[in-house]
Amino acid sequence: MPDTLTITDNRTGKQYEVPIDRGAVRAMDLRQIKTDADDFGLKTYDPALVNTASCVSRITNIDGDRGILLYRGYPIEQLAEHSDFLETAYLLLAGELPTAAQLTKWKTNVATHTMLHENMKKFMDGFRYDAHPMGIFLSTVGALSTFYPDAKDIFSEDSRRTQTLRLIAKVPSIAAYAYRHSQGRPYVQPDNELSFTGNFLNMLFKMAELKYQPNPVLERALDVLFILHADHEQNCSTSAMRTIGSAHSDPYSALTGAAAALYGPLHGGANEAVLRMLSEIGSVENVPKVIESVKSGERRLMGFGHRVYKSYDPRAKIIKRIADLVFAVTGHNPRLEIALELERIALQDDYFVERRLYPNVDFYSGLIYEAMGFQPDMFPVLFAIPRTVGWIAQWEEMLLDDEQRITRPRQIYTGAAQRDYVPREKRR
Ligand code: CMC
Repeated sequence: MPDTLTITDNRTGKQYEVPIDRGAVRAMDLRQIKTDADDFGLKTYDPALVNTASCVSRITNIDGDRGILLYRGYPIEQLAEHSDFLETAYLLLAGELPTAAQLTKWKTNVATHTMLHENMKKFMDGFRYDAHPMGIFLSTVGALSTFYPDAKDIFSEDSRRTQTLRLIAKVPSIAAYAYRHSQGRPYVQPDNELSFTGNFLNMLFKMAELKYQPNPVLERALDVLFILHADHEQNCSTSAMRTIGSAHSDPYSALTGAAAALYGPLHGGANEAVLRMLSEIGSVENVPKVIESVKSGERRLMGFGHRVYKSYDPRAKIIKRIADLVFAVTGHNPRLEIALELERIALQDDYFVERRLYPNVDFYSGLIYEAMGFQPDMFPVLFAIPRTVGWIAQWEEMLLDDEQRITRPRQIYTGAAQRDYVPREKRR
């Protein structure tokens, strides 16, 4: 059987045969289907791109029905168990796990880029004391493009390597400074003797002590959370990164757009929304009432549902286990009971079962972040730090893909037909 699709256009009676490649037909193969020579040709209509592959990618693979997530072929569970965030970052970017020597060099290189230009701090100082840290974060990442004009040289491999190191190393510093700004506390310089995550905790929480010593359990928990959030194939923010990058904007500007997409409550802002929802619910007794309001369409259960996963999000399973380790150090988070009860009821309720709505990565991550001492408005920033790796890997893949051009979708126009301008005095 040939891998083709035969299409009969019932408007004209004509038949067309189009190739099927890797489970997809090319939308451009439909353009030949016309009613007459003046016809533009058949388009596909796919609002929100729910069934359209916009790229070929070798980075991350999700099997949403079976709850499988692979980075470069490696299961997320194995990476969460055995790897660390910077090693996983190397894997996502380079395509293979590093040798011991490559890993040491990579970690040293990242560490040399952790400091921020003093003017950067002044820039961040300009934000109001109560500015949302994600707003500070994404504006500051955008401002980085003015500090590194060499980033415009996107087709230079050297330049891309340098910007990659700068971005991965500086996003924790920007995130920590955004947090300190909201607390009215002085900025803390990076300590490059600590791990990537240990240093991040240092820049966040160091007070008067000479040397900050991160709690090893919390350090590892945050590192694993970073692994889980590092990439997730063609999600909303990654699509934004690829779309902006397709115009050949520099990576800082493109990443600002990606971070802006992540900020939204339907995407990376969901963990913040979950925490606010759990606070509002207040106690386990109120859970059935909330489930009813979700079912009647009054609200969504934040942290539930996913465009791709139609079974339990594998990241949520790992996070649930980490939560136990973290709470053993920080003490019990009373909101966990509410979350567990929400999950228990939802997973046996027809509304959720029929729609295949399961907890996603954001359902439990906020509880861990809160236990570690973060305010909910820091949660999307904590998501953006590791996702920076995925954004860069996907951006570079797009740039080097010969088939990619500037992203420019079509539309189906339903507005007014051409008409003549009406002088103001003649308008009714
Ligand atoms: N609570 C209640 N109902 C829901 C939910 C939810 N969280 N999510 C989806 N539904 C319902 C929805 O109302 C619809 O029902 P019906 O068919 O009766 O109209 C059905 O399920 C399908 O939903 P959809 O909106 O068409 O699904 P989508 O693929 O467009 O949206 C989603 C995916 C993640 C935006 C959505 O599930 C949602 O809003 N979830 C809550 C926000 C959230 O947790 N986001 C984090 C996603 S994971 C982290 C990330 O990648 O950013």
